Amino acid sequence: SGTLEGANAQRGLWSSRLAFILAATGSAVGLGNIWKFPYVTGENGGGAFVLVYLLCIAIIGIPIMMAEVMIGRRGGHSPVNSIRLIARQDGLNPAWKLVGAVGVLAGFLILSFYSVIGGWAISYVGTTASGQLTGQTADAVGEIFSGLLSNPGTLLLWHTLFMAMVMLVVARGVRSGLERAVSILMPALFVLLLVVVGYSMTTGHFGQAAAFLFQPDFSKLTTSGVLVALGHAFFTLSLGMAVMMAYGSYLPKKISIAKTSITVSVIDTGVALLAGLAIFPIVFANGLEPGAGPGLIFQTLPLAFGQMPMGSLFGTLFFVLLIFAAWTSGISLLEPIVEWLEEQKGLNRSISTLGAGIVCWALGIASILSLNLWADVAPLSFIPKLEGKTIFDLLDFFTANILLPLGGLLVAVMAGWIMSRPAMEKELALSPGLFNLWFVTVRFITPVAVGIVFIYNLI
Ligand code: PHE
Ligand code: NA
Repeated sequence: SGTLEGANAQRGLWSSRLAFILAATGSAVGLGNIWKFPYVTGENGGGAFVLVYLLCIAIIGIPIMMAEVMIGRRGGHSPVNSIRLIARQDGLNPAWKLVGAVGVLAGFLILSFYSVIGGWAISYVGTTASGQLTGQTADAVGEIFSGLLSNPGTLLLWHTLFMAMVMLVVARGVRSGLERAVSILMPALFVLLLVVVGYSMTTGHFGQAAAFLFQPDFSKLTTSGVLVALGHAFFTLSLGMAVMMAYGSYLPKKISIAKTSITVSVIDTGVALLAGLAIFPIVFANGLEPGAGPGLIFQTLPLAFGQMPMGSLFGTLFFVLLIFAAWTSGISLLEPIVEWLEEQKGLNRSISTLGAGIVCWALGIASILSLNLWADVAPLSFIPKLEGKTIFDLLDFFTANILLPLGGLLVAVMAGWIMSRPAMEKELALSPGLFNLWFVTVRFITPVAVGIVFIYNLI
């Protein structure tokens, strides 16, 4: 880690803007869009929550993504070393590399439960392919899902498989093949979502679903709903844990950071909204509960696949593509930890991956148990806000709603208050008006917005 200068030359740059977009999209689009967005929207009352989420993407997410990519590209190294280098040049405190440490911790905690949900998706490939969903009722589909949750052994098996898939790619350090696959498989996932949306239009409840998603009813929005919307904006765009910083270090200098960041954010948001439009008509048509929680997509999509023509085929394909989307995100969660262990602890890649992966896998077992044997264990119930939250709920809450916004806040303060302004102007290469718009956003709007949401919720 002492040889910063010259190391840049050894790092291959992304061949093009497209290559960066594929990697960043691979990280961004994942379970957050298809599993989490619909269920947090359902839990928080729909339209008003969606509006706040979209505002958070536009006025906080995109500017922070630009800041992360900018820092990464300017530093040209791993997040910690990029920040160290920039600190030396701009005369800032090297302690800013703490941003990288937040990323390592967040990646570690998120991946532990992300892998468990990835395991659910793996399990549903078999469920759909076997044809057992054909013509099923909502009750039967619900029972299949509770059957899965009640079985720690099965959950552990799929969690182990998902984690092994992630570790395999990270250990070998070859991602280019996978990233190229994103350019085929992401559009395919998009098309399959459209197929489900097409089915959902036939349920007769599409209008009700669209109204639920897009007609804001502010009486349903709580302060904790605003925190969830903010946290989810960070989670879904993979922000606040230096992933985009790491990827940005490979972006060629001539490419517009603003345009690429907006592209990635628009694709991510499009996938989430499409997932919402696919799922909520099924919820309403079957009298299901929008606030059913983390099982929502597994209680709705199988119904659609059981009823539409060629549903087993579409369903199997859909879950395969969902696994793939989750896989590329999972890799981006493990990668920063492994890079950090390599650099800071001098371990080689295989050992780092094995060590980090196994510890993360073991932590995942706590999430698995909190779905069944420990379903009543709510360790932080003495804090009113956290009452009744299982270990799984707590990991999700703490990472998405606290760690990631905190990481994003640090990035905003660093870019808005500490770094050299001319260097940022050069890196972003925007017109003066647009640069100022971005600068004012990261300098004032982001810290104030995150601060207010934190203060309202945590104090
Ligand atoms: N953005 C990913 C998703 O929506 C999750 C993720 C979060 C990945 C943070 C990397 C970093 O599924
Ligand atoms: Na996402």
